[in-house]
Amino acid sequence: MMRKRILFVCLGNICRSPAAEGVFRGLVPEAETDSAGTARYHVGKPPYGPMQAAARARGVELSDLRARQFQSDDFLRFDLILAMDSENLADIEAQRPRDNNTPVQLFAPFAAGDGDQDVPDPYYTRDFEGCLDLIERAASGLASHLQGGAL
Ligand code: 4NP
Repeated sequence: MMRKRILFVCLGNICRSPAAEGVFRGLVPEAETDSAGTARYHVGKPPYGPMQAAARARGVELSDLRARQFQSDDFLRFDLILAMDSENLADIEAQRPRDNNTPVQLFAPFAAGDGDQDVPDPYYTRDFEGCLDLIERAASGLASHLQGGAL
């Protein structure tokens, strides 16, 4: 039986994690999804305009999402936490409550076959298309993984 609460985490919560959430909820509408950033710079903002536009061109609507900061309580509220890069992973793990066992994993390795570990940050690379390509592959791999009974 598939558990359903999935949290996507990046740094700002305006590019990668909202895009991952948007793509994944399109694939698995019955999942309960959210996203968060380890930093608080962009709290309350919608996803970054160029990312919203690139996603919308692929049929993925992100305009309803708003940035929030990751908090240690998220370990208790979600069944699986996906980090967009290894720095996010370390920042998340540093907030793990005592005795909590919620899995925290890198997201990109679910895009099986190409060895990606991190989702490069398009806020800096400006490669929104490459970012969405990787996110789409990883979201599809994650959906298969979960539907295979992994959670
Ligand atoms: P994200 O990208 O982590 O994919 O949302 C970022 C966007 C903005 C900043 C950092 C990362 N920033 O520092 O403003």
